[in-house]
Amino acid sequence: MGLKISVIGTGYLGAVHAACMAELGHDVVGVDTDVLKIEALAAGRSPIFEPGLPELLVSARASGRLRWSTDIADVADADVHFVCVGTPQKPGEYAANTDYVFGAFASLAPHMKAGSVAVGKSTVPVGTVPRVLEVLQAGVCEGVDARLIWNPEFLREGFAVKDTLTPDRFVYGVEREFAEANVARLDEVYARALAAGTPRLVTNFATAELVKVSANAFLATKISFINSMAEVCEASGGDVVALADAIGHDERIGRKFLGAGVGFGGGCLPKDIRAFMARGEELGLAESVEFLRTVDATNVRRRSRVVELVRDVLGEDVVGAPVAVLGAAFKPNSDDIRDSPALDVAERLVALGVDVRVHDPEALAVARAQRPGPGYVDTVDEALVGARVVVLLTEWQVYRDLDPADVAEQVAGRVLIDGRNALDRQRWAEAGFTVHALGRPT
Ligand code: UGA
Repeated sequence: MGLKISVIGTGYLGAVHAACMAELGHDVVGVDTDVLKIEALAAGRSPIFEPGLPELLVSARASGRLRWSTDIADVADADVHFVCVGTPQKPGEYAANTDYVFGAFASLAPHMKAGSVAVGKSTVPVGTVPRVLEVLQAGVCEGVDARLIWNPEFLREGFAVKDTLTPDRFVYGVEREFAEANVARLDEVYARALAAGTPRLVTNFATAELVKVSANAFLATKISFINSMAEVCEASGGDVVALADAIGHDERIGRKFLGAGVGFGGGCLPKDIRAFMARGEELGLAESVEFLRTVDATNVRRRSRVVELVRDVLGEDVVGAPVAVLGAAFKPNSDDIRDSPALDVAERLVALGVDVRVHDPEALAVARAQRPGPGYVDTVDEALVGARVVVLLTEWQVYRDLDPADVAEQVAGRVLIDGRNALDRQRWAEAGFTVHALGRPT
């Protein structure tokens, strides 16, 4: 028997979480203040590009197990309330904006029924959850206990459905009061994955908050580590891809997240390491999180490196030179352009006077609407025809599948900058291209 579940906030995390909870057999209502988003979801349309989500939305709609609403009062019947709102970086600061989290719990509290549990999934700075509990305690109706469990989410965009249904692990942050009952309730929600053996770790609030933030800090550090090695390789003739393969064979290091290139972007890694630095400083721990400054700086430097390479190739003729930028999303299989390295590079090239033509298989609509600076084109061909330089910045499969011999016929200059080390250098070189790959000998 499924539970009655509410999901508050229907962004990347909430929309996927709601659809997956319905897929698990629960009776779900997703709530958001964004009318357009709710209208799309209610019509069975995914507001984001996320593989597998459209199918889930359609099947959940048909089953009648998933409803959408803009009215927070519609959560009142739920046994479990998941809060999935964002914590974006504050403009002009490193700290995360937790207003949506506090706002969501404040508006949820008066609608909680006796015995129901609130579950926080948002990424928050350590020390936030006890304050969330206070908000909940202040807002619940008489006779209702403020029950809270912190259950960070580790999904990756592009794999969000799979990561939600079959995660690597569950983390439950609890405090002593109601701990056992809250854990048991969340176990019911995730019964299928738990039965399949997914590890479940029960921690205190602070540890649960930190697991999420430190996991992302570690991933960002791993990427910047290999990108620092790429810089050393560029200066010394080494090949960072071969280096990553070789060190990755050591299981203690592991090959994953050693993809050198233009670095990390998106709505999570960059803002999470900055929020961690800000929180560390507030706690008087500036030195403990100082390394993240280097991680961030290395990441930003890799974007500059691509801009430099384009400028070097074009020499005196930068202004008006046609350059094809392949990719706008922060990574493939997503239409998310938040802090996208590709668009950062494209905008910097525009600032130099380059005639930039950006293509992306999924992110064009959102890029045109939100980052109107660069020139966008609907087809790869439009980007390539007459281009003096081809710059790959998001490694979509369609770009991996390009035939270098065909591209050679279209472009005006046979120069490829592979910002993701994703293309077969030899094939492109055989087609007459000079290939610059980050961290690899030309
Ligand atoms: C990241 C984490 O991987 C998730 O575990 C976490 O749940 C999520 O943030 C979150 O906090 O919500 P995501 O932002 O979807 O997930 O993307 P990643 O797959 O981590 O990629 C982040 C960036 O790193 C991308 O721009 C990607 O191109 C880049 N990257 C990744 C590299 O440059 N090299 C690599 O080897 C791997």
